[in-house]
Formats: sequence, structure tokens, C-alpha cells
Amino acid sequence: MSSRRLAVAVTTALLLAVGATACESGNSGGSASGGKIALLLPESQTTRYEQHDRPLFEAKVKELCANCEIIYSNAQQDQSRQQQQAEAALNNGAQVLVLDPVDGAAAATIVSLAKSKNVPVISYDRLIQNAPVDYYISFDNERVGQLQGETLVNRLKELGKTSGDIVMINGSPTDNNAKLFNKGAHSALDTSGFKTVPTPDFFTPEWKPENAQKFMEGQIAQLGKDGFVGVYAANDGTAGGAISAMRAAGITPVPPTTGQDAELAAIQRIVGGDQYMTVYKAFKPEADKAAEVAVALLKGEKPSTDRTVNNGATEVPSFLLEPQSVTKDNVKQTVVADKLYTIEQICTSAYAAACKAAGLT
Ligand code: BGC
Repeated sequence: MSSRRLAVAVTTALLLAVGATACESGNSGGSASGGKIALLLPESQTTRYEQHDRPLFEAKVKELCANCEIIYSNAQQDQSRQQQQAEAALNNGAQVLVLDPVDGAAAATIVSLAKSKNVPVISYDRLIQNAPVDYYISFDNERVGQLQGETLVNRLKELGKTSGDIVMINGSPTDNNAKLFNKGAHSALDTSGFKTVPTPDFFTPEWKPENAQKFMEGQIAQLGKDGFVGVYAANDGTAGGAISAMRAAGITPVPPTTGQDAELAAIQRIVGGDQYMTVYKAFKPEADKAAEVAVALLKGEKPSTDRTVNNGATEVPSFLLEPQSVTKDNVKQTVVADKLYTIEQICTSAYAAACKAAGLT
């Protein structure tokens, strides 16, 4: 090898080495050739996390950074477990945390720990409160609640109703989103002529469908089977619980009931007429954005955005996506068009007739 060629080779090797070191420390400012990103999701009873968020996030990270490693954990709705999982991820060398908190207030402790190690934190889907969070990626969650409330009221009016009680089943009291859904829903329901019950509002511990079901059983016992005109359920899991309680009490047809997440079981209930609507929050753009921001942070970049959300401690740079209301009328144009589910997946033999009637063929 000539001395000139040797020099070029040595320089190249040096540059590569510098690039690799810089990237490992998360500050290359160039392309991320590797690094560790932790994805910490809150639970698995709601199908979105394992079926959509996790695989979509992993695929996007791999696409943007082939040698990036993802440390994944699911807290199964247990905040102290999530704390341990975050600590384990940091000890394992995670350079960015993508955290969907079980408890938005308690998760501030995780942020402090990450910050003490100079690890940036992305608040994924749920906002972490009172902590120096780096980014927040979610949907316009008040709008989610508003869509639920509006769609429910419109349906009741279509059925000729103008007043009556709506049983309100909110999400988990430790989830900031649940408060935003509640606020949005009230903005649509409180001026509608209908009244939400009970007062004060009920929030479902841990978002558990069985807790929603138990609560609904109590409401049916108290109000009577025809004592309410509709049910506001914050998501498809709680809607499923409420619908089981109504069915078990022999209420047919089930009054208009809302949901959220476009879970397959909910889409089937909508087609079959047991649930009136769900809110579809396209998982891919949310997971993709989180992956893009995480990989950018790994490279030492700071993606810019013109929106911020105040979390009590700081104005958090935010990306907020638009939710969509789904009823029987637009299943095809939304979740089917987006390839979330095929018609074959929705229209199993039990739903064949309902699917045909709804034009899902
Ligand atoms: C999410 C919903 C989900 C709920 C229960 C909320 O924070 O935005 O999509 O249904 O948590 O996990």
C-alpha cells in the first residue's frame, strides 16, 4: 500500500471510530449507526399496545437505524413495575426513553432519574406531569372526548331523544388522557339537554374492563334498566365491560355506547349493533413520529415543532395528531382503508349477516 493510500485508510478508520463513539454517546449529529432506545408501554389488556404501538415503533426504528437496539417492557398497569422497568432500561444503557406512563404524576420520578443520566424522555400518548419532559407525542385528546360526546348526542337525537341520563364511564384516574377525554366529552354533553350520571364523575380504576362492568352493574341496579338513554365509555375496553353488564341484565337493544381505539372486538360490536361508535387514532403516524424523534435524539438532534403543551413544569414540544370518529357507516373508509383490519378479520361467521347489511363485503 502506498503511503498516500495508507493515510487515506487510516483517516477513514479514524473517522469511522470517531463516528461510532459519538453515536454510542448519542451525540454524533449525523446518522445514527446504533444505540439503545427504551420503549415502556403501560398495559396489555387494551389491544393497541402489543398489536400496534410496539410492532410499528420497532419497525420504524429499524428502518431509520438498522443497528439500534430496542429495550421493550410493558408494565401491566403497575406503576412500581414501570419504575423498575425504566431503571432496568437505564442501567442497561438506554440513551432515549419513550415512556407511556401508567401514572402520569408518579412518572416524574422516572424523568428525574433519566435526566440525572442525561437521557432524554419522550412522553408517548399520555402526558407525564410536572417533569422536564423533552417531547410529547399524542393525539388531540380533548377532541377525542368531544367526538365521543358529539357522536353520542347526534345518535340520541336521531333516535328522537332530547333528554335523559347518560351513564359516564371515564378512564383511569392516573392517566392524564382520561381527564382530557372527560373534559372534551363534557364540552359536548353538558349543553346537549342530556345529563351525565353519576355525580361526581366515575373514573375506572386502571382502565380495567371488569371494573367498568362492575360499575355499570351498579348503575343498572340504581337507575333501572330503562333509567338511562346512553353510555359514554372512554375506550373500547370499558365499553366492552359496560355492554356485557347491559346484556347480562337483559337490556336489548343496548342504548348507544361510545368507545375508543378501534379495537377489532369493538369494530365487530359496531357492525353488530352493540356499540355505536369508537374513536380511531391512527397508530402508525403516532408510533412513526415517536420513532423518528427517538432516533433524532439519539443523533443529538432536536426535531422542531411549533406546538407545545404545558405539563405543569414546562412547555413540552409536542406533536398532536387528529382522531377520527368511526360508526358502522365509515368502517370501510377508515380502519379497512387504512389496512388496520381486513374485511375477513372483521366479518367472521358470527358477523357475516351484519357485515352484509353494513355493506362490508
Ligand atoms: C390511551 C387509549 C387507551 C387507554 C387505556 C389512553 O391513555 O390514549 O388509547 O385506550 O389509555 O390504555
